[in-house]
Amino acid sequence: MKKLDQKVAIVTGAAQGIGRAIADELALAGAHIAVFDLKLEAAQAAAAEISKLGVTARGYAVDVSKSKVVDAAFAQVVSDFGRLDILINNAGVSFVGPHIKDVTDEVWDISLGVMQSGVFYCMRAATKYLLPQRSGSVVNISSIRGFTSNPGRIAYCATKAAVIMMTRVAAAEWAPYGVRANAIAPGVQRTPMWDIDVELGVVDEERVLRVTPAGRLGDPNEIGKLAVFLCSDDAQFINGDCITIDGALTTVPIDGAVTRPE
Ligand SMILES: NC(=O)c1ccc[n+]([C@@H]2O[C@H](COP(=O)([O-])OP(=O)(O)OC[C@H]3O[C@@H](n4cnc5c(N)ncnc54)[C@H](O)[C@@H]3O)[C@@H](O)[C@H]2O)c1
Repeated sequence: MKKLDQKVAIVTGAAQGIGRAIADELALAGAHIAVFDLKLEAAQAAAAEISKLGVTARGYAVDVSKSKVVDAAFAQVVSDFGRLDILINNAGVSFVGPHIKDVTDEVWDISLGVMQSGVFYCMRAATKYLLPQRSGSVVNISSIRGFTSNPGRIAYCATKAAVIMMTRVAAAEWAPYGVRANAIAPGVQRTPMWDIDVELGVVDEERVLRVTPAGRLGDPNEIGKLAVFLCSDDAQFINGDCITIDGALTTVPIDGAVTRPE
């Protein structure tokens, strides 16, 4: 039997990038997939591809920063699939560049809305189904920016640190119910988010490759395989942890672009 045979998983932000790779790996492990993303067509297109892996997959238009939309979407998934076992909170946005003095309310609000409130809304919605059935696993995608600072990314870093702590609170509350919560902190992955930042010139890929001991960027499917492990019974006693997957980047304290005044 496959590790996640017949489990039902919601993956947020799964139309592309890390979310899509996680959805693929969960599907390869036997889980049925609900793809949440902003645009219905993109979510459905991803679901159509995922279903070719031999599982049921459906796409849903869900803005995770809207709590009522989230609650309704979870109810719809349980109605469509009959149950819920796994939640992967992956949806994210990236704003890189402005130092604190120039960060707009809009950047702050969107970042916290998607990557902090969104994670909270989805975890809260999941409890309605996971706690009564006394089983389930939640994996929240944080970042190495949850514990290493990145000048020019205060909102992003703040949300990713919050995700690690929210994961720990959830684990402590849910463990007596047989439900687990863990986080993953990826280093730099090759995804549309990263490629856009490279194109905008706000990150320096060559520099990242130079300071990453492994000498390469991460592959999103590696995050997916880790998520499968965390959601499986092999990880039954791992609860409230945050696992870093970064090719040893954060072992070397020389990352981060420091700009000095003229
Ligand atoms: N790429 C990296 O190097 C890296 C490193 C560490 C952590 N992460 C984290 O991994 C996650 C995925 O990143 P990625 O690189 O795949 O990004 P991406 O931009 O390629 O994909 C993000 C997905 O989230 C969706 N999304 C955005 N806002 C949403 C909302 N409000 N509701 C629902 N969906 C929404 C987007 O439409 C998109 O499909 C993010 O949380 C990111 O912070 C990425």
